[in-house]
Amino acid sequence: MKLLIASMLAAFTLSAQAAELNIYSVYPEDALGKAIEVFSARTGTKVNLIVGTSGELIEKLSSEGANSPADLHIDKDLVYHAEAKRKGLYSEINSDFLNKTVPKNFFDTNKTWFMVFYRARVMMYNPKTVKASELENFQDLADSKWNGRLCMRTSKSSYNEALTSYFIEHMGVEKTKNMLTGMVNNLAVDPTKNDRAMIEMIDAGVCDVGIANTYYLAPYIVKNPDFNVKVAFPNQKSSMAHVNGVGIGLVKSSKNKKLATQFMEFMASAEVQGPLAQAFYQYPVNKDAAIETTISAFGSFKVDATSVDTIGGRTEEARKLMDEVEYK
Ligand SMILES: [Fe+2]
Repeated sequence: MKLLIASMLAAFTLSAQAAELNIYSVYPEDALGKAIEVFSARTGTKVNLIVGTSGELIEKLSSEGANSPADLHIDKDLVYHAEAKRKGLYSEINSDFLNKTVPKNFFDTNKTWFMVFYRARVMMYNPKTVKASELENFQDLADSKWNGRLCMRTSKSSYNEALTSYFIEHMGVEKTKNMLTGMVNNLAVDPTKNDRAMIEMIDAGVCDVGIANTYYLAPYIVKNPDFNVKVAFPNQKSSMAHVNGVGIGLVKSSKNKKLATQFMEFMASAEVQGPLAQAFYQYPVNKDAAIETTISAFGSFKVDATSVDTIGGRTEEARKLMDEVEYK
């Protein structure tokens, strides 16, 4: 009997060890903290992380098609997840735990991908020259009072493609076009390459207001609590804050959907969500996980109720519109 149990255990361990999960990810393993290490140890799964840029990974998934060894796809932006879904690269996620844990708006409407950590793309301002009460809505930034006082990141960033998609979703094309035209007219300097450059210019007084992701500001404040940039959560009485974040999609060709689902559930568990959201300075989707103190000090805010995938579905329109108004 003992021998039988021992050999059954050996067989179980062997089959558990034989399990492999291939994750295509824009994040390298060290950026994902101990999540992969712990999941591997607990489930006996060999996790292979295939790292690339957003474009490279989608291209790889598309060209491999049904023969792709990938089980999961991790990216940093709803624009890319929505694109992967449009290309038919995902299949439906079946998980009671995820349905319970992940708010509906963070799920694709067909449940093929979801956002696991999020940030808000918000208005930021220099409190020496701007009062919080002057910034209620994104639309305010088109007002001529901000002429020569606004900084924006380039329109070529997926973050601004997603933001403009959110504008189109809530305001329609014409109003978005007028607002963006006003914003472009108000620019103090040419659009910046990244959010950090813009935040530093607000602090330095080159511009008074800008639009950036919450997680970029946090490290500056950790280093210097007197840093001259504050957050204004936009449109809290209308469309609510635009959010974007780190997503996971279940790859259609996966031969290990059960194990892949287990990994997604693990990533959404409070155990992983707390520490990893803190390391990313992003918000956890799991309400039971703690929010990092610097970003929780920005204040609480209401999130756009639209599905992240619906926003992502407007990316092409957004690109076209930003070109039309000559937002570089
Ligand atoms: Fe970023």
